[in-house]
Order: sequence, then C-alpha cells, then structure tokens
Amino acid sequence: MALHTVAALLQAQVPGVPEHRITDIFKPLASPAQSEANIAWLTFAITAGIFVVVATLIVYTIVKFRRKPEYDVLQEPPQVYGSNQIEAAWTVIPILIVFVLIGVTARVVASVENASPPKSTLKIRVIGHQWWWEVQYPDYGITTANEVHMIAGPDGQVSNYIQLQSADVAHSFWIPQLAGKTDLIPNRDNYIWMDPREPGVYVGNCAEYCGTQHANMLLRVVAQTPHDFEEWAANEKKPAVDDPQATAAKAAFLSLSCVNCHNVSGTSARGKFGPDLTHLMTRQTLASNMIVNNPENLKHWVNDPQEMKQGCLMPSFKLTDTELNQVVSYLETLK
Ligand code: CUA
Repeated sequence: MALHTVAALLQAQVPGVPEHRITDIFKPLASPAQSEANIAWLTFAITAGIFVVVATLIVYTIVKFRRKPEYDVLQEPPQVYGSNQIEAAWTVIPILIVFVLIGVTARVVASVENASPPKSTLKIRVIGHQWWWEVQYPDYGITTANEVHMIAGPDGQVSNYIQLQSADVAHSFWIPQLAGKTDLIPNRDNYIWMDPREPGVYVGNCAEYCGTQHANMLLRVVAQTPHDFEEWAANEKKPAVDDPQATAAKAAFLSLSCVNCHNVSGTSARGKFGPDLTHLMTRQTLASNMIVNNPENLKHWVNDPQEMKQGCLMPSFKLTDTELNQVVSYLETLK
C-alpha cells in the first residue's frame, strides 16, 4: 500500500504550477482568509497580553508575599475584606475585552459575508458526497469532481462565488489559505467566496466529521488566470474523447456496471451517484485527492477501491484481468 500514500502525492508536483501545500491559516492568500487571519492575530495578541499581566501578578505575589522567617507559623495572617475598587476593575475590564472581541469579530464576519462581487466573478457549485466532491460550473454546463478550478488574480479584481450543497450528510468546505470553513448541509444552500491572489494549487479538506472516510475527503483548488481557466473549461465542455484505438475497451466499459454510477458525456454512461469521468485524465488525483492519478494507481483503485478507501461507496466488482485492463485503458483515453 505504500505506493498510494500521501507521501507519493506530495511528489506529484505539476511542472510550472506552484503548489501551496501548507494548510496554514496564518499564511492567507485570499481576502476572506486575510481578514480571518487578522482577527486570529488580534485575539492572540489580546489573550497573550492577558496572560502576561496575570502571570506577572502571580509571580510578583508569590515572591513578595512568601512567608517570612520572622512570622509565627501558628498565627493566622491578617484577615482583610478586600477592595471594592479592585473587584470592580477585574470584573469590568474582562467584560470590556470580551465586547471588543465580539464587536471586531462580528464586523469582520459581516464584511466577508456582505462583500459585493467584483465584475469578474465565477459561479461554482460544490456538492459534498460521502466521500468526494462534485463540482459544477452552471454557466458553463460543466460537471467535474474533487479538483475545484477557480480564477485567480490581483486583489479585488476576480472572485469565485461558491454555492455549497450536500447529497447526504453535513460536510465542510475548507481551504485554509483562501477562506474559513463553511458547512455543506443537506437541503440547504450555503455560500462562500474566495479570490486567490496567486495562481497555483491550494489544498484543503472536509472539516466536518462525515463518516468513515472523512479524513480522506481531501480538496484541491486549482487557481488559474482567467485565460488558463477558459482554456481548461473549453476542454471540459466537450463530450468525452472517442478514441478509435479504444473501441473495444470502451464497449467493455459501457457493458459493465460502472455506467450505473458514473457519467461519461457523449456515451451511454449516465450515472449520477459517482464522480463524472468525462475528463478524468485532466485531474491530477484520484479518490478525492488521496492518490496521484497515474495508470498504476488507477488500475489498483478500479480493481478494489475498498483496499485503499475502506467503506467508500464503490465496491470491488471482481473484474477479470481482461476487463480490468480494458476499463483502465478506456479511462486513460478520457483527456
Ligand atoms: Cu465530508 Cu467530512
């Protein structure tokens, strides 16, 4: 199993495409993530200040009021009632601090949620499934999976508005360097936007426990210049490649139960339960970004998905070697 691990994924760098593999909220590369990181730093600074003040007072008190040798051990220390001024101060100051934090947070949440879209906005719909992501581009008529292509550009000029839905249970969409988490709830539409400043690949994951393979419901955002995005979209819009070399393999694929769950545009495969395979080969990864999309991994995955992603909804169909090779060689034509 070692060949399928995330370590292998980390070596699958696409030439010329910078990969932002650090899932670090303190290295934001989009406006929502930037505002949220600022709040996190402010909260950290205030609480660090409180820590320093309290710790200093404790240390000072311990040192200053140690029992001195001249004191009589049996005698009680002087009993004092306290101080109204001090009690009022340590009640009022924390209340003020809490209100400041609430106020600043509410303002940032509102400014992120109410931001109006810039002229150049791409509409995307992401639907969470156990345990993969369906990705649609309503204005383009494109359906794909697991790798979310977006437009990137300098501050404030381009943006991506994402409608979030769920096909089964609650999931959560999280690309730490681009924006905070937003849940995908059954029978509800949630919205999130992000404006990646730099083209590149941003990684993320499902952030709401959604069952056995929650940890392997990984996300990959491919942020592109508007020109590169249009080029990608133009290819995605086309029906599947019909390679004359693969006629037998295609017939084999279409005769198997794969077609009940998977769609390949332009063929009789019209399933909707699993990821759309029309342009599978344009994706860098398989199994919701668990493994690199290469022929060896694809064959292993099709042969027995349960070995790699136990509990996932694709069973092992116990294909014969011939069938397996045909399915894989057909899938490899889907560029
Ligand atoms: Cu989907 Cu956790």
